[in-house]
Amino acid sequence: MTRTPAASSKHLGAQTMKTIRIHRYGGPEVLHYEDAPRPQPQAGEVLVRVHAAGVNPIDWKVREGHMKDFWPHKFPLVLGWDLSGVVEELGRGVSRFKIGDEVYGVPDPARNGAYADYIVVREPELALKPNSLHHIRAAAVPLAALTAWQSLFDTAQLRPGQRVLIHAGSGGVGHFAVQLAKWKGAYVFATASTKNQDLLRKLGVDKAIDYRQQRFEEVARNIDIVLDTIGGETQERSWSVLKKGGVLVSLVEAPSEEKAKELGVRAAIIGAQPNGAQLAEIAKIIDSGKLAPVIDRILPLSEVRRAHELSQSGHTHGKIALRVSNGDGTLERK
Ligand SMILES: NC(=O)c1ccc[n+]([C@@H]2O[C@H](COP(=O)([O-])OP(=O)(O)OC[C@H]3O[C@@H](n4cnc5c(N)ncnc54)[C@H](OP(=O)(O)O)[C@@H]3O)[C@@H](O)[C@H]2O)c1
Repeated sequence: MTRTPAASSKHLGAQTMKTIRIHRYGGPEVLHYEDAPRPQPQAGEVLVRVHAAGVNPIDWKVREGHMKDFWPHKFPLVLGWDLSGVVEELGRGVSRFKIGDEVYGVPDPARNGAYADYIVVREPELALKPNSLHHIRAAAVPLAALTAWQSLFDTAQLRPGQRVLIHAGSGGVGHFAVQLAKWKGAYVFATASTKNQDLLRKLGVDKAIDYRQQRFEEVARNIDIVLDTIGGETQERSWSVLKKGGVLVSLVEAPSEEKAKELGVRAAIIGAQPNGAQLAEIAKIIDSGKLAPVIDRILPLSEVRRAHELSQSGHTHGKIALRVSNGDGTLERK
């Protein structure tokens, strides 16, 4: 991706930064590599030098304008709501972090994201990153792992011994959900296509289901919790696998309350929330060796359009991460 020469950081002075921004909704071509003013942390906020940014489907959904009624974004907008980096500056009153701390987090998706050299994040949205992960791998964790955590633990209240069905166990959210459910002591069913069956087993899935060869409801029965990452027909067919008192948690489409009532089950749709305290817990589990991100691929920030196309295909495994900085003050370009 090319930069506009008139917008070089030399021309604009030292307080600029490199970003990927959009000036309107649209396809991958609206993603522009350009300079922008470096943000200043206000009270309760932290300025983070971004080393890596995770890519999530929400990035292209925002880019295409699907979330415009939900988040009133202003243009130009920096995308990317998953980051790992180093604390550069503290706003007034910040007490949990110091300059130089290595942090990761999900910044508020209503504000500018992490496809940039720097981002301002509210203190409660950050945690110290897992010691055992380099920034690139750490950036792949926060949004997807928090979504899995909040779905399984906060909403579904997963208990040891319960039977869980995770749709798209090979995906960004799904691969964390499988590992977290196993960590909690659940018996895990998960779906993916033929090429991802080995991955499901490596993640610890007890019954891997190839959704291209089998109907999941023929294998998964008497389920306590379904995690629906797909919606549509997959959600509709999921009701039949739930036991009485079970729960269907969807990330994508509100399940019918009437249907839930009729079947004696619970149904919920969740919107994952930034949560530094939960990320601190997740970091501990990662450092204990019980949880790890799977990386489909690492791309430089300059290949963000390709990263979006891949994410939009709906068939990547694990996560895509973008290398934002080399860690020595130079921006990664290749
Ligand atoms: N509500 C929230 O707060 C929230 C948070 C995070 C994500 N989400 C949403 O949740 C969805 C999943 O997110 P993600 O990051 O996990 O996506 P993702 O990483 O793009 O998911 C890709 C995976 O889905 C699998 N897959 C595709 N079709 C499938 C099907 N019919 N049955 C089973 N598996 C299938 C693919 O496996 P194969 O290649 O083997 O088919 C692939 O590994 C997205 O729509 C995202 O926007 C919502």
